Amino acid sequence: MKTSLLFFAVILLAQNGQSANILGVFPMGASSHYILASKLMLGLAEAGHNITFISPYEFKTQPKKGSITNLVLEGAGDEFQKVLKASNLFEQNKQNSLLGVIDMNSKFLRSVNNTLNDKKVNELLKSDQKFDAVIMEQFSNDALKVFAYLYDCPLIILNSVGPNNLINPTVGNPEEISYIPNMLVKASHNKVMTFFERIKNLLVHVISVQMNNYIFFPQQNEVLHRRFPDAPEVTDLYLNASLVLLNSHSSVSPAQPLVPNMVEIGGYFIDPPKKLPKDLQEFLDNAKDGAIYFSMGSNLRSKDITAERKKIILKVLGELKQKVIWKFEEELPGKPDNILIKSWLPQQDILAHPNIKLFVTHGGLLSITETIYHGVPILAIPIFGDQPMNAEIAQSAGYGLKLSYTEKDFTEEKFSHALDEILYNPKYRDTAQKISKLFHDRPMKPMDTAVYWVDYVIRNKGAGHLRVGSIHQKWYQYHLVDMILFLLLSLIVFVNIVKFVLVKVFKAVRDRIIGKTKVKAQ
Ligand SMILES: *[C@@H]1O[C@H](CO)[C@@H](O)[C@H](O)[C@H]1NC(C)=O
Ligand SMILES: *[C@@H]1O[C@H](CO)[C@@H](O)[C@H](O)[C@H]1NC(C)=O
Ligand SMILES: *[C@@H]1O[C@H](CO)[C@@H](O)[C@H](O)[C@H]1NC(C)=O
Repeated sequence: MKTSLLFFAVILLAQNGQSANILGVFPMGASSHYILASKLMLGLAEAGHNITFISPYEFKTQPKKGSITNLVLEGAGDEFQKVLKASNLFEQNKQNSLLGVIDMNSKFLRSVNNTLNDKKVNELLKSDQKFDAVIMEQFSNDALKVFAYLYDCPLIILNSVGPNNLINPTVGNPEEISYIPNMLVKASHNKVMTFFERIKNLLVHVISVQMNNYIFFPQQNEVLHRRFPDAPEVTDLYLNASLVLLNSHSSVSPAQPLVPNMVEIGGYFIDPPKKLPKDLQEFLDNAKDGAIYFSMGSNLRSKDITAERKKIILKVLGELKQKVIWKFEEELPGKPDNILIKSWLPQQDILAHPNIKLFVTHGGLLSITETIYHGVPILAIPIFGDQPMNAEIAQSAGYGLKLSYTEKDFTEEKFSHALDEILYNPKYRDTAQKISKLFHDRPMKPMDTAVYWVDYVIRNKGAGHLRVGSIHQKWYQYHLVDMILFLLLSLIVFVNIVKFVLVKVFKAVRDRIIGKTKVKAQ
């Protein structure tokens, strides 16, 4: 009894006493990425840590425990918002390709350079502040991994999506090209890829790896070494991660193998539902025939939807008996009475309302995760990035349908048919609820998992024992290409030696027999 009390006392002491200093480096201005970063920083602070949070926007929430020192990058937020305002992201679907990736990388290279040269960042570097871990996102920003080197502490990566070919090599996670389609390959999910899909998947994989090696890493290297001439090569920084936290979960995305220092924390950013504002609460309570929630996320603005498509949407939604809440950023003349529009909406709390029957979404991973959390089926209208892939996964998993935004596909008939199908065929809601159960069935809440593993890595000085041996292997070593070639070559040599010897022996024997017969004949 006494020993167990002592044991618990020791554990409590260990848990409470382990406050660490953590540096979070998150210059990315896109709101979904900023939400993921700030929620993790807040969760770690409230686990008792002192966080220094480098961010594009001012972080105003006070943690209940621990502390957050916010270091806002000069001009980063404004710059991102300017680019966002100037672009119509609905046009991005035409650019969802390897060229799109190059374009995106050059934009983020600027932000990496600005971060390395930022005044406040450099004041921090000059101060005698020490850190026990550096946390940052994997997103075209590998030069920023230098912070873990400068502070001589473990590097922890937050990945906004599941495992992919950008994050896997950092911890040597296996690249499952034969059955996991790359984000840029339009292939069937939850089914076995066809021969040609696998060829395409392999080619896209090889090309993106080579683009990293020959375009992106050298660019990052240049920016890095201009600021820190003595820093290690970017590839060395890239291959030195102690832990990868994945914002994915095998209930939402296809199951795949994970090395021990790659941990799923999908949905850690979701808070338990709060009370809705009065107007929304009344609107939804009065939706006797159910309600539809429609939002294209925080970066895509519904007001940028083309006039013809807007007309289709209003006509179809106006004819429904369900009520509709639509995230829409300006006045909407001719809006039918069953539709309520607002420029900002508390999405999670709306999805939690029992009268919500359907979520019409762009299919961003945050929205998908939230809908799974609440078990609401979706109609996905994907535009760019990982959205087409997420939509495809939702459709093959059976909790939603996807509708392409192209002129050919986005018709009144198809939109109306898809809505009816999900509203009146119970299979979609049943599947969403079933997946929701899987999502919640875990040993620990995802934020607690994140805190546990960050503490673990700090406590165990980088936890090098979790790193698998393949990290520093060449691709041909890992895939046994050199072995197979060697064995093939050995086999060929062996066969030829045997052949040579046999021929010699055969000839010798024949000569002798012929010789004997000749002697006899004489
Ligand atoms: C975190 O901050 C608090 C308050 O400033 C301080 O008492 C504590 O020592 C700090 N923890 C570490 C690990 O520096
Ligand atoms: C990086 O920033 C520095 C200082 O602001 C600037 O002189 C340099 O040209 C920038 N480099 C690139 C590649 O943008
Ligand atoms: C690699 O990580 C360790 C901690 O895990 C750190 O001390 C070291 O400085 C890092 N090296 C490089 C080259 O980033």
